[in-house]
Amino acid sequence: MKRLTDHVAVVTGAGSGIGKALALALAGQGVTVAAVGRRAAALEEVAALAAAAGGKGRAYAADLACEDEIRALVTMLHRDCERIDILVHNAAAMRMGRIADAPVEDLDLQYRTNVRAPYLLTQGLLPMLRQRRGQIVFMNSSAGLTAGAGVGPYAATKHALKALADSLREEVNRDGVRVVSVFPGRTATPLQEQVHAWERRPYRPERLLQAEDIAATVVNALCLPPTAEVTDIKIRSMTKPE
Ligand SMILES: NC(=O)c1ccc[n+]([C@@H]2O[C@H](COP(=O)([O-])OP(=O)(O)OC[C@H]3O[C@@H](n4cnc5c(N)ncnc54)[C@H](OP(=O)(O)O)[C@@H]3O)[C@@H](O)[C@H]2O)c1
Repeated sequence: MKRLTDHVAVVTGAGSGIGKALALALAGQGVTVAAVGRRAAALEEVAALAAAAGGKGRAYAADLACEDEIRALVTMLHRDCERIDILVHNAAAMRMGRIADAPVEDLDLQYRTNVRAPYLLTQGLLPMLRQRRGQIVFMNSSAGLTAGAGVGPYAATKHALKALADSLREEVNRDGVRVVSVFPGRTATPLQEQVHAWERRPYRPERLLQAEDIAATVVNALCLPPTAEVTDIKIRSMTKPE
């Protein structure tokens, strides 16, 4: 397996949940992680943990629902990073609600965060990723493959994200850039705790997929030699609903 030592990774939504687990797993491989999110304190904590894990961490506070902040972030990353090898689109907004009455503003927020932000960030960083024959990870969802009741707008954005990833892969593979989509089932994170509250179900994180297991799977795919490309990862909990 190729190790990722000295690589630089940008991870969005790195302050909690799956993004945090992935940032720390990458740091454990010697990666310098640019941790992106809105909560500066959480990102600073991840940066410190990344250093303790054997890599380096830098915090970049930005609201990815805001185009001006994405453009400022891209400028800062160009300024600060000599290279970018890995881009992880992990940040997402999720609003539960039925299409009959969920506010259209919820759809707009999820579109801006889950589709428009990865689109703009990819455009801004692609020249650097091409230079490094880099890798792009799209943290999708099982809802990006199958849409159930109560998650229509969220699932629509994740279906769109799959389309972006699939098109991008066809466009950049010839430059040596790999693109992988990850489709996790329910995972024990703050976001999933909110989903359980909305569903009025008891939250039992130990029965769910663990963020660290997703992180380990993604790092494994990223470590593959350039002769192979993992395009899609479907992963779910082994514990079945009661
Ligand atoms: N948990 C699950 O069951 C599950 C299942 C399938 C897929 N996923 C996907 O996994 C990814 C990570 O979610 P998670 O479960 O780990 O939830 P989480 O802990 O709530 O993480 C979401 C992250 O996104 C960031 N974020 C949200 N809106 C943002 C914005 N406008 N600008 C910048 N950052 C923003 C948040 O950071 P700040 O609050 O600091 O901004 C947060 O760290 C998401 O793409 C989600 O769709 C989750």
